[in-house]
Amino acid sequence: MSFGQVDKKSGQVGEPLWRQYRDQFPVAERLIYLNHAAVAPLPKRCAEAMKSFADDALEYGSRHYDKWMDTYEALRVAAARLIGADRSEIAIVKNTSEGIATVAMGMDWRPTDRIVAFKEEFPANYYPWLRLEAQRCGVEWLSIHDPLHSIERATFGAKLLAISFVQYLSGLRVDLNAIGEICHRNHCFFFVDAIQGLGAFPLNVRTAHIDALAADGHKWMLGPEGCGILYVQKDRQDSIFPKEFGWTNVAGYNVYRSPDGATWRKINASLIASTLYLDSTVSNGSTYYYAATAVDIYRHESRKTAAVKVIVP
Ligand SMILES: Cc1ncc(COP(=O)(O)O)c(C=O)c1O
Repeated sequence: MSFGQVDKKSGQVGEPLWRQYRDQFPVAERLIYLNHAAVAPLPKRCAEAMKSFADDALEYGSRHYDKWMDTYEALRVAAARLIGADRSEIAIVKNTSEGIATVAMGMDWRPTDRIVAFKEEFPANYYPWLRLEAQRCGVEWLSIHDPLHSIERATFGAKLLAISFVQYLSGLRVDLNAIGEICHRNHCFFFVDAIQGLGAFPLNVRTAHIDALAADGHKWMLGPEGCGILYVQKDRQDSIFPKEFGWTNVAGYNVYRSPDGATWRKINASLIASTLYLDSTVSNGSTYYYAATAVDIYRHESRKTAAVKVIVP
């Protein structure tokens, strides 16, 4: 197999893809690199983008802040396109673990709730569920090798199922569409840790009925560590409250310096005060998605407040 591109007109096989992109990977001059499933080497264009950001901050400070924000936005749009989601369903997080913990710690768990998790999972997709089992609800531990009918039985009446797209140890790739179909049928929240497959295999969150998904960039996406995404399906966003709660979590966070900032703060404060899960342990966080309810209530409230611009996430 050549992996060459076929010219549509002539039918000729062109230069193989690996040769076209080989000069992007200087690491290949020194190493036979086989560790992508842990931390991938950076291609040149990725390293250049990171360097140019550092140079910009070095030479201009935050002069080009708006452009940095455009880059965030472009990342959300590209991530949404990659997994078949909408940009409003993508949050930028620091890694897969943060995405998983946001879902695990942000849901309202009751003692009667049950989670379906898998014994062979990477610790990031294992410990959060183990902790919930110790503290708040039941967990049914399946094996990744169990047949679909076992998953069907376990998800019946369960609140959430968490699984990796591709297993980190064995490389086993699960049938997301089949598991998603089962979860959908049983009204069970379907969470996927996608880091070991994203970029290498196609994935569509709609076809697979995925409710939330987390991944970082440093494996098959050939990006750096610390550049993760969390997808949460629009209708499910209300069921997860970000535990790591900071100033960018609220609607209209960037108008805090204007005279209207006071109005915003009042509205947001009342929204937050009425939020069920917020407790005194929250810390200053990074960028997450906006809670859909907050925006809806804000829209309603802002009709009463002249000269305040509604910023739709
Ligand atoms: C399946 C799986 N999930 C999560 C992680 C950890 O990802 P992160 O460092 O982005 O939290 C890994 C890393 O090897 C992994 O293989």
